[in-house]
Amino acid sequence: MERKLQQLFFALSLLALVLILVAEWQASTPSWKPYQRKFLQLEAQEEPNAVSKAAVLATPLAINQVVLPGLQRVDRCTTCHLGVEDPTMKNAPRPFHYHAGLGPHVPSKFGCTICHGGQGLATDMKDAHGNVAFWQTPLLPADYVRASCGRCHKEGDVPGVPELTEGRHLFETEGCRGCHKLNGVGGSIGPDLTEEGANHRSPQWLERHFLAPNAVSPGSAMPNFHFTREQARALTYYMLSLTSGEMGSYYSSERLIPSPEYGRQLFEEKNCIVCHAIGGVGAKVGPDLLGVTKRHSDGWLDEQLVNPELVYPGSSMPEYDLESNARKALVAFLASATPKDAQDILARKGHALTPEDAAIEAGKQDFARFGCAGCHGTELQGGAPNPNAQGEQVPSLLHVSDDYTKDEVIGIIRDGRMPPMDNPKGSAPPLYMPSWKSVLSNEDIHHIADFLWSKQQKKESW
Ligand code: HEC
Ligand code: HEC
Ligand code: HEC
Ligand code: HEC
Ligand code: HEC
Ligand code: HEC
Repeated sequence: MERKLQQLFFALSLLALVLILVAEWQASTPSWKPYQRKFLQLEAQEEPNAVSKAAVLATPLAINQVVLPGLQRVDRCTTCHLGVEDPTMKNAPRPFHYHAGLGPHVPSKFGCTICHGGQGLATDMKDAHGNVAFWQTPLLPADYVRASCGRCHKEGDVPGVPELTEGRHLFETEGCRGCHKLNGVGGSIGPDLTEEGANHRSPQWLERHFLAPNAVSPGSAMPNFHFTREQARALTYYMLSLTSGEMGSYYSSERLIPSPEYGRQLFEEKNCIVCHAIGGVGAKVGPDLLGVTKRHSDGWLDEQLVNPELVYPGSSMPEYDLESNARKALVAFLASATPKDAQDILARKGHALTPEDAAIEAGKQDFARFGCAGCHGTELQGGAPNPNAQGEQVPSLLHVSDDYTKDEVIGIIRDGRMPPMDNPKGSAPPLYMPSWKSVLSNEDIHHIADFLWSKQQKKESW
């Protein structure tokens, strides 16, 4: 019995010693080396004879790194991900498999972290994948990697990533700017979103927050927009793509892919047709746009879309918040637009154009661009919760003509208003009507009032 115990004790001591030695050995052996040895074995298998096999196996191990001054990073991921550029490694096990679909985004110019996240300099798997406490941008889950295409390819026309187009579209139409600044334009009730994609928010956090802001940030003043899962996913993609980090000129000069198709979509979405015709089809408030790209240079047209006032002083054309790729896409569309395109757009509108359409459209454009919809709803229905305001909600704008004259409404928009408190001893309602006089011209505000008046509904009569 005693002898048995002694034997057991001896065996356990030996085991402990072995474990200690293994731990020591692991600590002194960088964790990337075994991957390189395994990779060399894989490659050696393909060699025809013993001599060449031995030569492959004798390749010195080394850290691979790409220095990317233009992206301000150094990536060492290919120290372990050794087969990314070798199509014969298509069926190799992880992490050695070939990376299909990189196209022109070759590792020597792009590295890996610009798309995947992670910690470029690290050579230990856990650290490199960024799953460590101090690292803010761990690997994006596979479902979200394509969001980062939008870090370089702006304005929702990255082939193969319709989520980015949809996310940008939702952002511009749901009135997010009423409360959030993006690239300097917008309100300040919520945080600035210009660098949301470089923030520490995980994709999962963002998506859950879009589905129910209050469940993630208790007491949030952000309304629940009742987005579908797909819409929440699209907005999450768009948010992840928002990093205002400096990119070297190679990445920023060639990153734009304007497509006429995206231009057509914008032309329809922005309702340009209520002021312009193409080959006689459409409205006559502004010039006919057939062949406009032959009358003006691309640079001139770009300038006109950025700031119509500058090109034509006193212009009645609205100022659009179009990023450079969107402007290029519009010009690309105009270069090939035909009367048939205009006919199709008018057919989809479903009603004939009227002379008032132009002012109303200009007002609608400002209403969307300056984020009024964020608080008052895209259908002007109101309803965003506003605790301790009378009615507990942001008011609907569908019946303002019952309570106010047009001039009074213009006054409210110009000067803003604090909602009266339900309980004067409680805390102030989180949402108030901002003053717009420093942002919108008198003409803009009149156009918005025209737009509101075009939407007034009769109170239901008894
Ligand atoms: C020390 C070796 C090592 C380094 C360095 C390394 N990886 Fe990996 N990586 C692996 C291994 C091993 C796997 C496979 C893991 C698995 O199958 O669970 C992997 C898997 C992945 C995956 C698939 C993960 C998933 O969850 O689907 C991605 C993406 C990835 N790595 C990206 C990177 C990037 C980007 C870097 C550089 C910042 C990097 N890796 C650096 C070893 C490494
Ligand atoms: C241009 C952007 C881009 C670059 C650069 C890039 N990748 Fe990828 N990578 C992707 C996309 C997109 C996927 C596909 C994700 C999906 O939908 O499953 C992917 C997939 C992968 C996978 C497979 C993930 C899985 O779940 O099987 C690995 C591993 C990986 N990449 C590693 C790397 C490494 C290592 C580098 C650097 C050499 C790199 N990538 C560079 C965009 C990129
Ligand atoms: C770091 C910035 C960057 C990121 C991130 C990026 N791209 Fe690119 N992309 C470029 C640049 C720069 C070019 C032009 C490359 C060239 O012509 O050498 C390009 C070219 C392209 C092209 C044109 C290809 C061709 O054959 O002409 C497509 C399509 C494309 N990218 C799609 C994507 C997709 C999809 C993603 C995400 C998986 C992505 N890009 C991520 C910078 C980027
Ligand atoms: C009525 C004002 C309001 C509107 C409209 C609004 N938000 Fe918010 N948002 C907030 C407030 C307040 C917060 C901070 C509290 C919280 O986390 O919910 C916030 C938080 C966020 C965050 C988290 C930021 C972070 O990292 O902490 C994101 C992302 C966001 N909003 C995006 C959007 C988008 C996209 C829209 C349009 C669909 C939108 N918001 C509309 C008020 C608003
Ligand atoms: C509210 C009416 C209105 C809307 C909406 C409108 N425009 Fe205009 N646009 C004009 C007027 C008026 C002019 C003539 C010059 C001026 O006053 O700016 C003009 C001029 C132009 C020109 C220069 C044409 C030339 O031959 O000089 C282009 C190009 C143009 N608009 C494109 C667009 C596009 C693209 C859209 C939609 C994104 C759009 N416009 C929406 C009213 C409008
Ligand atoms: C941050 C949220 C927010 C934004 C953004 C916002 N409003 Fe308001 N608005 C309010 C609130 C709250 C009230 C109610 C004020 C009160 O009760 O006196 C209000 C009241 C109004 C009223 C008076 C309606 C009434 O029945 O009292 C009009 C008209 C109006 N807003 C138009 C606009 C327009 C146009 C824009 C965009 C240029 C805009 N609002 C942007 C929150 C907002």
